[in-house]
Amino acid sequence: MSNDFDGPALAARFPAGFTWGAATSSYQVEGSTGADGRGKSIWDAFVNEPGRVVDGSNGDTAIDSYRNIAADVATVKSLGLSSYRFSLSWPRICPDGDARVNAKGLAYYSDLVDALLAEGITPWITLYHWDLPQALEDAGGWPERATAERFGEFARIAHAALGDRVKHWITVNEPWCAAFLGYSSGEHAPGRREPAASVTAAHHLMLAHGLAARAIKAADPDAIVSIGLNFYPVHAASDNPVDVDAARRVDGVQNRWFTEAALRGAYPEDVVEDFKAISDFSFVEDGDMDQIHAPVDVLSVNYYSRFTVTGNGGATSASAAPTGAGSAWPANEHIGFVSAGLPVTDMGWEIEPAGLTEMLTRLHAGYPEVKLAVTENGAAFPDKIEDGRIHDPERLEYVQGHLAACADAVEAGVPLVAYFAWSLADNFEWAWGYTKRFGLVYVDFETGERTVKDSGRWYGDLVRRARSNREAE
Ligand code: FCB
Repeated sequence: MSNDFDGPALAARFPAGFTWGAATSSYQVEGSTGADGRGKSIWDAFVNEPGRVVDGSNGDTAIDSYRNIAADVATVKSLGLSSYRFSLSWPRICPDGDARVNAKGLAYYSDLVDALLAEGITPWITLYHWDLPQALEDAGGWPERATAERFGEFARIAHAALGDRVKHWITVNEPWCAAFLGYSSGEHAPGRREPAASVTAAHHLMLAHGLAARAIKAADPDAIVSIGLNFYPVHAASDNPVDVDAARRVDGVQNRWFTEAALRGAYPEDVVEDFKAISDFSFVEDGDMDQIHAPVDVLSVNYYSRFTVTGNGGATSASAAPTGAGSAWPANEHIGFVSAGLPVTDMGWEIEPAGLTEMLTRLHAGYPEVKLAVTENGAAFPDKIEDGRIHDPERLEYVQGHLAACADAVEAGVPLVAYFAWSLADNFEWAWGYTKRFGLVYVDFETGERTVKDSGRWYGDLVRRARSNREAE
């Protein structure tokens, strides 16, 4: 462990009332996919198609969170965290994606919320972390406008059941992934490779966000509404105009498209021009952009890595799984992703903590009216149990570096209110199955046994120190 990060120095750099948490999502942890009337999601169907998940695994059991609320709550508590971010499985609550509610599915989340609150842990709920009801995919999925409308109803249903106890709501997690990995590259469920439809899907995901945000605010004006976006600083590989244009394009789709729509009510014009090569934008109806421009209190920032891009190369990024996927960059297939020579995680993602400070300060400069929260940050590394301990110095260093980057942003005046590590515990990592471990807590996937890693111990110590410093003030 680097001594630079020991002691109270880092903890003392965070403001009073800062939210300390860890995050998961429903399909990645719950298991029990056939239990208690849960409907099927697009991930249940996708994982059964050969070749979609590198180890041929699925989320049928995952880490058994559905049957074991106590274990998850105990884990959050053992780290001393003040908050837990988890997502609702839409088909567990609305098995067919319509307004018919499965009371048992809702009861699970209600019990989880109660169990967290009983331990003084604040729930942050994500409404959509990629597990669309299969019934809605059968009707066309996110390229269909009706899917967004159904999502608005789902938000109303979820909030009506839990909103008396839950204040923090993240509407959609990473619409970039849901649209472009789900409908363009096909790396994620539903595995479609339809570049034009993916742009339509992206719009409907934003419409879904707007409808959900409005439904929640209408029910509770004090609710704290957010959208979760994944951001990457983008650098051109050279001064060559082709590379500089590639950087503009990737920055446009990744960092500007969703924020401008949600927070300014308009898509960036240069990106619209790029997408016009494959889309006529007839899916944007009058009033849509106003709907999308709904009240947002906190912008949720998911940050893992940075990109260096060229204008000469196939558009496969380091994050793509080797599952025969197409391009996640519709209308931009000439772009390539290159290494900047930085150290990488087990995902091949380059590590650059300063990129997080850069993104946070840039977002604050562009959207000074919203608070910011880091709602995902973390790293996969292969872990081994040795004498009952998991020594994970690389993950530890990653978390330390990125927390210092958060503190730098706070000191630069960024209204950062929260940090959630991804993830609370090892889990099902989408197309990578169980081959990538992101947890602060190690999970034996055979027995379900959980063991706090060195990184989790360190994070827990830091959180306890930060919270007790502030309580003593
Ligand atoms: C994010 C996802 C999350 C997890 C991490 C590693 O894109 O939101 O579910 O897969 O990446």
